Amino acid sequence: MDRIKYAPYKDKVQTPEKAALLIKNRDVLGVSGFTKAGDSKTVLPQVAERALYEDLKVTVLSGASLGYDTDADLAKNGALYKRMPFQADPTLRKSINNHEVLYVDQHLGQTADMLQSIDTFKIDVAIIEAVAVTEEGYIIPTTSVGNSPIFTEKADKIIIEINKTFPETLAGVHDVKFLKKQPHRDVIPIRDPDTRIGVPYIKIDPEKVAAIVFTEVPDSPAVIAAPDEKTTAISNHILGFLEKEVDEGRLTESLLPLQAGIGKTANAILSGFTKSRFKNLTMYSEVLQDSTFELFDSGKLVFASASSITVTEECSRRVFGDFEKYKDKLVLRPQNISNAAEVISRLGVIGINTAIEFDIYGNVNSTHITGTKMMNGIGGSGDFARNGYLSIFACPSMSKGGKISHIVPMVSHTDHTEHDVDILVTEQGLADIRGLAPIERARVIIENCVHPEYKEQLTQYFEEAYKQGGHTPHILQKAFSWHTRFKNQGTMKIQEYADDHA
Ligand code: COA
Repeated sequence: MDRIKYAPYKDKVQTPEKAALLIKNRDVLGVSGFTKAGDSKTVLPQVAERALYEDLKVTVLSGASLGYDTDADLAKNGALYKRMPFQADPTLRKSINNHEVLYVDQHLGQTADMLQSIDTFKIDVAIIEAVAVTEEGYIIPTTSVGNSPIFTEKADKIIIEINKTFPETLAGVHDVKFLKKQPHRDVIPIRDPDTRIGVPYIKIDPEKVAAIVFTEVPDSPAVIAAPDEKTTAISNHILGFLEKEVDEGRLTESLLPLQAGIGKTANAILSGFTKSRFKNLTMYSEVLQDSTFELFDSGKLVFASASSITVTEECSRRVFGDFEKYKDKLVLRPQNISNAAEVISRLGVIGINTAIEFDIYGNVNSTHITGTKMMNGIGGSGDFARNGYLSIFACPSMSKGGKISHIVPMVSHTDHTEHDVDILVTEQGLADIRGLAPIERARVIIENCVHPEYKEQLTQYFEEAYKQGGHTPHILQKAFSWHTRFKNQGTMKIQEYADDHA
């Protein structure tokens, strides 16, 4: 109870079961949580549970993906009508691809603007995890800020979930500012990753608070595979490229603020910086993984700004067990500010994200397997790719025992166009496509990034297309033949080229 410093809330404390009864069929929920961090651990799971026994279908908006099996249970129990703006759960993914759940895959920096601009888009209930409540009744979030400010602003009712597993020392790490609606939007005056522009809590109308529950469930831990041969090679190519940029005077040894996506490739790339010659690094990112804390501990990183902290169990113990050690080097912001085009552009962020596949001209698919099946979503990759100083995309050159080439003639779905991509990298090498025309790009990409088992096949495609002319040459009837071959025959390889490498 001492975490509730606003007396009128004390008689609103309820069980999660009772609080969940505030949610009605067809409600739109705005829930905290960003890549598993700071999500609702008791009330939202209760919504999934209720759907087993009653007619209950809701729309769920969050910051990004949720932890544990919450998204899976909501989907499995038929509790979801629509989900946005991001998910990363295999069960929900299946429901989306089977048309059982509608999904809006959105740039993470843009959800708040959309909610602000569409008056008719109502949020019925906001469910927000908090470390504590201030004397004024305001919310101090836990490990993410995400879209919680806009959800609480728009919601009719707010349920606060106070999580006692997080130390109260988290208070002070957040920096929350509400941006004005257009046409009254002002500049976002962030000139460095450590600039603070707001307050360390989410200001809400206490009258909207309908229930408060307590939980002692920690964030579900991130599971990150250790760097392997391929991800280490990718990391080394990127470090080598950045070193060259420094040697040639385009960057200093502090580089520019770094952003890194999620998953093992992004984590391995950042880990690589611990052994690099770079110093006094900063991050202006959306998620901080274990590698951020490795970089702090190695003395390479001096400050990190993001919207969430998503770490493994071991790293969580280390970071939250002694949070004071890191607190003044961190800030957590709402995602419309961590991912704001204006700020990313002003700071000159170096964005490093992961691709499902890219094509010979530099278009990137981050979301759809063979062009139709949703994987996770675009996340924040587009916010950083479009607006950063350098946009780097990485993936392995080949996978599934050689059956998939991640470099294809034409991507089967486009998330990042050739106009937004500067550097492409696989374990084979790195293609710097800045300032290159499409036909120059194709040659550099094939030469540097493609696996030897697919090089001849892709060169053949390009040369045949080139002969037919055009600024961006393609043979339209063959452009997706790699994907259809994979679908029909289980491999992208053409037999005669496969035989050459047998
Ligand atoms: N064709 C078919 N399947 C493919 C594929 C392709 N071209 N590329 C990847 N896959 C499959 C993999 O085989 C793997 O499947 P499996 O789990 O059955 O083995 C799965 O997709 C994930 O691939 P993996 O290589 O493990 O990638 P990853 O964990 O590094 O994730 C993305 C890569 C692109 C899916 C992930 O980074 C993502 O969702 N990105 C978009 C969001 C984003 O960039 N956010 C950044 C800011 S947080």
